[in-house]
Amino acid sequence: MKFTVALDGPAAAGKGTIGRAVAKHFGFGYLDTGLLYRAVGIKALEIGRGVIDPQVAARIAATLSETDLGRDDLRSTMAGQAASKVAAIPEVRAALLDFQKTFARREGGAVLDGRDIGTVICPQAEVKIFVTASDEVRAKRRLLELQEKNPSLTFEKVLADLAARDARDAGRDTAPMKAAEDALLLDTTKLSIDAAVAEAVALIQKRIG
Ligand code: C5P
Repeated sequence: MKFTVALDGPAAAGKGTIGRAVAKHFGFGYLDTGLLYRAVGIKALEIGRGVIDPQVAARIAATLSETDLGRDDLRSTMAGQAASKVAAIPEVRAALLDFQKTFARREGGAVLDGRDIGTVICPQAEVKIFVTASDEVRAKRRLLELQEKNPSLTFEKVLADLAARDARDAGRDTAPMKAAEDALLLDTTKLSIDAAVAEAVALIQKRIG
């Protein structure tokens, strides 16, 4: 059975948590597509000693390995910023396209979370959900996640980081972040994790029938 759940939306809106939970619930495969861009971004930064060269980034994207994706620093703020810079390079996106498209139509169902899943990677997805939350709530959640590894991080820094990434992601020419016309909106601002997951499960269940 092929069944795709496309989860898009801004950073730290809850896509990852919801994605993992619904994939587990329905026994579908799960792909966090942001990790692909984070792995390319951090490696491009290293090779360029702090400067991202588009050609180098495109080559990294075309030869991304399991080791690159297994790094333990991919969740850092620096990796997030680097990801959103390489994500604006059309050649980088092109190099990552086939892998994501194939994953989306894998047998047994797939959940993908990202920015362009419902619009570019899998416009035929059976369920498209655009997950949002207020800027303050997203920053608070991300701060909680990152603070243990980085105690000097502040709410203001996280808020600014998310705002910069959202603006870059929504403003780029190639595959900008946006809700597909047929996407359902899920605002998690006032929802607990369990309640957000339950809403997503209900939406998917309704479509499965
Ligand atoms: O989802 P996450 O915050 O880990 O993604 C990191 C960055 O990767 C995003 O800010 C965005 O620039 C980029 N990205 C993208 N398209 C996707 C997934 C992530 O452009 N499908």
